[in-house]
Amino acid sequence: MTQQILLASLFILFLQKWLIENTLVYKQYDQVKDILKQMNNLTTSNFYNNRKYFSNKRSFRFDLSKSQIQLNETYCNQSDTFKFYHPDIVLKDIYTTRETDDLTQEIVKSISFIKIPNYTKDKQQNKTALPEALTIPFNYYDSYLTRSNTGLSAMCLFQKHNHMRGRQQLAYKNELLNNYYQYVDKLKTMPQICSQNVTYIPKSYRLWLKDECLAFFELINTPEYQQKFQKHGPQFISKLGLEVHRGAGITMLFEKETKQLIKEYQNGQNCGQISKYVIAQKYINNPFLFKGHKIEFRIYFIIASTYPLIVYAYDSSLIRRCAMPFDKFSLEKSSHVCNTAIVKKKLEGQDLQEDQSFFIEWKLDYLQELLLQKKAIKNKKWLNDYLYPKIHNTIQHLIMSTQHYFDNDSKLSEFFGVDFMITDDLQIYVLEVNSNPQLLKTTPGRILQNTQLVNDIIEIQVAYLRSKYVRLRSLIKRILSSKSTLQKFDKEFKEAYKDKLEPEFPISSNNLFRKIIDKNLKDSKAYNDMIQTKCIL
Ligand SMILES: *[C@@H]1O[C@H](CO)[C@@H](O)[C@H](O)[C@H]1NC(C)=O
Ligand SMILES: *[C@@H]1O[C@H](CO)[C@@H](O)[C@H](O)[C@H]1NC(C)=O
Ligand SMILES: *[C@@H]1O[C@H](CO)[C@@H](O)[C@H](O)[C@H]1NC(C)=O
Ligand SMILES: *[C@@H]1O[C@H](CO)[C@@H](O)[C@H](O)[C@H]1NC(C)=O
Ligand SMILES: *[C@@H]1O[C@H](CO)[C@@H](O)[C@H](O)[C@H]1NC(C)=O
Ligand SMILES: *[C@@H]1O[C@H](CO)[C@@H](O)[C@H](O)[C@H]1NC(C)=O
Ligand SMILES: *[C@@H]1O[C@H](CO)[C@@H](O)[C@H](O)[C@H]1NC(C)=O
Repeated sequence: MTQQILLASLFILFLQKWLIENTLVYKQYDQVKDILKQMNNLTTSNFYNNRKYFSNKRSFRFDLSKSQIQLNETYCNQSDTFKFYHPDIVLKDIYTTRETDDLTQEIVKSISFIKIPNYTKDKQQNKTALPEALTIPFNYYDSYLTRSNTGLSAMCLFQKHNHMRGRQQLAYKNELLNNYYQYVDKLKTMPQICSQNVTYIPKSYRLWLKDECLAFFELINTPEYQQKFQKHGPQFISKLGLEVHRGAGITMLFEKETKQLIKEYQNGQNCGQISKYVIAQKYINNPFLFKGHKIEFRIYFIIASTYPLIVYAYDSSLIRRCAMPFDKFSLEKSSHVCNTAIVKKKLEGQDLQEDQSFFIEWKLDYLQELLLQKKAIKNKKWLNDYLYPKIHNTIQHLIMSTQHYFDNDSKLSEFFGVDFMITDDLQIYVLEVNSNPQLLKTTPGRILQNTQLVNDIIEIQVAYLRSKYVRLRSLIKRILSSKSTLQKFDKEFKEAYKDKLEPEFPISSNNLFRKIIDKNLKDSKAYNDMIQTKCIL
């Protein structure tokens, strides 16, 4: 009897508490709205604030920003409030958008998609407003970064955006190289072991820098260089910097091409006067061969957050082979450079079918099998013991060398694909890093694979957003029930705003992304113990 009374009163107490909490929240609609607005404001004063950069147009490539939407400064106010009172929008549903007509759009459409119609100049009046329910914009262009007002007209508290500033520091070949050499220099002041793994870019000369340009022309005029050239074929390739990808801008320095370069730079006399971003890079002429062809593989990775820095790398990879058989003396560019764009050129129109034969496999397991067959390796767990750690460690270094350019905000993220080559002695080199990597739909297998890839990315975006939503929501309730102000909870806000998975939102075990950096963890733990604490910048 007493037990029942106790239970009943407990239940009533619980009910009362629940009622008070929730009716309070509803009664306090205006306060909730105000706190949300202040939170958005706090993020722009303490985290990413694109308004600061508006005047400095050179920080952005405006031509890349295609705006299809009518931006409205009341948007975040409305959207966040709407989501606060309809938790299912964030916790149960997913609302995505994508503005380009591509495979990624087809994929995100199948999730839960809000179509924002095409915008053309003459229909300006008809630009669509951003939908309130939008949680996971998955755009190709970064127009929200450049055209909106963070926390007002886009990029609100309860959204996870798929772009960030600073991605060019990885994706532009000239910047990647600058950052690599700066990093190498910094590591020289640290314990020697720290430099051990930072060898993933072949020796390069930046021809826009006078000293390196002079050094390069001096080198190619030596008898040693001539000898090596005769004995081993091309010694260098040249690459163009900035936004040039998929094999474009890459020149094998065969004899004719070398002469052209010498002429353009007047054998070095023009060094310092030509500011074009041309890189002369040592050509790695001992590639691992697949049926006589050079191969390369692409590893996808995402920077899931920049507050704190969290990075995942994908387990499945795209292995491709070069169009023509490899021969270090071959004068065919497509025997040395395997990019699809070049392959297309080579085959003039037949690229769709042929693409399939250049594409070898999805899984690096295949490479391991091949190596086991060839008796190049003995360890049946080589992939997990050697190659994956090496790949992950390389991506960690790529990030470490560029991270100071990233904005610090849990709203931001970015998706990359990094191309590696592998040598006959199983060393790996980074060829290039692509942001917005192209996801092709050339074969059913590829569509399937890319569909899982995009779904896996979105699962991660959603898990972090839901975790943050729950934390911020409970913080808002605490502020309301203590009749306090957000200012008094500044520290708590910064903590709740930090991206971190809550136990109720785990990433599913069949998601192929693996976490390789998480700065929620301390020291070398942040890098899966693959970078020693004393080596962390
Ligand atoms: C946002 O915060 C700044 C201070 O960081 C303050 O000056 C400004 O008035 C706030 N804006 C709004 C709309 O609350
Ligand atoms: C990011 O912002 C938070 C809050 O302002 C700050 O504590 C932290 O040091 C910043 N991190 C970086 C890497 O700038
Ligand atoms: C912004 O949105 C509000 C609310 O929907 C609306 O009243 C207002 O007219 C909009 N402003 C513009 C410039 O479209
Ligand atoms: C946001 O909502 C608050 C509270 O309703 C309101 O006072 C404020 O004017 C709104 N801000 C904007 C920019 O619409
Ligand atoms: C949108 O634009 C793309 C290319 O710009 C075009 O292919 C597509 O048909 C357009 N869609 C609509 C609904 O107008
Ligand atoms: C919007 O588009 C529709 C159909 O394309 C057109 O009939 C209408 O006049 C447009 N409205 C404005 C304000 O341009
Ligand atoms: C070098 O990379 C391997 C993974 O390939 C890693 O296990 C090792 O800790 C790294 N060494 C240093 C000094 O960072």
